[in-house]
Amino acid sequence: MTQDGAFKDIITERGEDGVLLIRLNRPKALNALRTRLLEEIAEALLAAGDDGDVGCVVITGDDRAFAAGADIGEMQDKTPVDVVRDPRAAHWATIRTFRKPLVAAINGFCLGGGNELAMHCDILIAGRTASFGQPEINLGIIPGAGGTQRLTAMVGKSKAMRMILSGERITAEEACAAGLVAEVCEPELTLERAMTLARVIASKAPLAVELAKEAVLAASDGLVKDGLALERKAFALLFATEDRREGVRAFLEKRPPVFTGA
Ligand code: HXC
Repeated sequence: MTQDGAFKDIITERGEDGVLLIRLNRPKALNALRTRLLEEIAEALLAAGDDGDVGCVVITGDDRAFAAGADIGEMQDKTPVDVVRDPRAAHWATIRTFRKPLVAAINGFCLGGGNELAMHCDILIAGRTASFGQPEINLGIIPGAGGTQRLTAMVGKSKAMRMILSGERITAEEACAAGLVAEVCEPELTLERAMTLARVIASKAPLAVELAKEAVLAASDGLVKDGLALERKAFALLFATEDRREGVRAFLEKRPPVFTGA
């Protein structure tokens, strides 16, 4: 637990403009979402939910990465039972049920759990050089925080299959054309644009904004509930495979994996 808001993996900044900015702060690991980082985001959002002066939240990374996924080192020794009992699920639930708007300002890599975090946000603003992907297949696993469901809802079946089955990344322009991203701008302007938009949102009637978010989510997230549960079970099951062990080991040893089907 973080103490008294003394965050380590994130930096929060709150202005007079009703906007809370959350910066992911593990630059050396490309902002990989270790459990502590997710917990800190959840804590910051719980506080923002209770703070009447916050009308909108912006989440951003740095120039190199929004976030390159779950922390692969942390996943190394997990069993299926660990995955089922993982406290991360509660942190994701806090993010999912946050009632105020979330804007993602994305530069660089937006991959795996990082792309899933972005898809938990309500509006995605991306720098022209950002790239998006679900590369879990390279580790012998699948997305586990709603990626199979939300990506399919956002970009359609064929593009989602291409990304999830091959692990290939798409550009910001392609992500925008497909509907994953709302707007593409020059990388140096990404955060500024997201903050401007967040300030506009924060100036609106708070209850109307919350209810608008809830209604729009009912049209998207509402459709994927069964799929989310299925994805979660499949994700846990894959932690029993030798291919998952090999995939994670290969990444950490910086070599291509050799999958055997075991
Ligand atoms: C832990 C990571 C990491 C990750 C990068 N790093 N991604 N550490 N978890 N997801 C670390 C690297 O080990 C390296 O550490 C440093 O960050 C810089 O990364 P490099 O690989 O040296 O950089 P580069 O060659 O530019 O390649 C960038 C990259 C590559 C293409 C993004 O790092 C990559 O493929 N990362 C993994 C992406 C991925 O598979 N994500 C999905 C994770 S699974 P050192 O110490 O060597 O400098 C997932 C499941 C979600 O997200 C489930 C949710 C429940």
